[in-house]
Amino acid sequence: MNLILLGAPGAGKGTQAEVICDTLKIPAISTGNILREAIKNETALGMEAKSYMDGGKLVPDEIVINILKERLEKDDCKNGFILDGFPRTVPQAEALDKMGVNIDRVIDIEVEDEKIMKRLSGRRVCEDCGASYHLEYKPSKSEGKCDKCGGNTVQRKDDHPDTIKERLQVYHQQTEPLKDYYYATGKLIVVEGQEDVADTTALTLKAVEA
Ligand code: AP5
Ligand code: ZN
Repeated sequence: MNLILLGAPGAGKGTQAEVICDTLKIPAISTGNILREAIKNETALGMEAKSYMDGGKLVPDEIVINILKERLEKDDCKNGFILDGFPRTVPQAEALDKMGVNIDRVIDIEVEDEKIMKRLSGRRVCEDCGASYHLEYKPSKSEGKCDKCGGNTVQRKDDHPDTIKERLQVYHQQTEPLKDYYYATGKLIVVEGQEDVADTTALTLKAVEA
């Protein structure tokens, strides 16, 4: 099954992608994670993407489209995949169509902006394995340390309030039009993402199985 997870920054795409990935045994592909890894490794791609990401802007379409194309060619995508954070603009969605990729379902996780601010400002991520926590909603067992690998948990640079506001604005202007784009294909399923993680997971899995 080929799935797209749509939703504002902090709506819970990464959190739900992890569950679907375990349930369906298909890889979750996050363009944000691929870009952060490139920044960490100081590659040419990372250098180029960094200023856009730190400022809460989108990385240019051409760059992310190429990243995704390469990733989808890998063997582990043969039985399906979950796209988390791609497409994020109409040209990216059109590029996906042009690649001949058949999408089965587009799950749109809906959360109010006010809640997003709380979720993202409280998020902490492991700098070694990328595991995600929240100071209030999903604290790690030992403060500042990752449950999975013991690495340090830190705040993402783009999770500071001013940058979150910018990311939300970018989302409403450039990514939200994708709801209409996919509604027109009959593949869009809207999931209420306001409640706690378990509730959203139940609704997301229902949407996957629908
Ligand atoms: P990316 O890494 O994709 O970030 P994002 O879309 O902004 O999404 P997030 O990872 O912030 O949020 P999420 O929805 O995954 O929420 P999460 O599950 O972590 O992109 C980063 C940047 O890379 C972009 O700004 C852009 O520059 C660039 N980029 C990436 N893809 C691109 C593309 N295609 N085109 C151009 N540029 C691109 O949850 C958030 C927090 O809330 C966590 O702490 C979690 O524990 C908590 N939480 C989750 N669900 C719940 C719940 N139900 N109740 C309470 N807490 C919850
Ligand atoms: Zn870790």
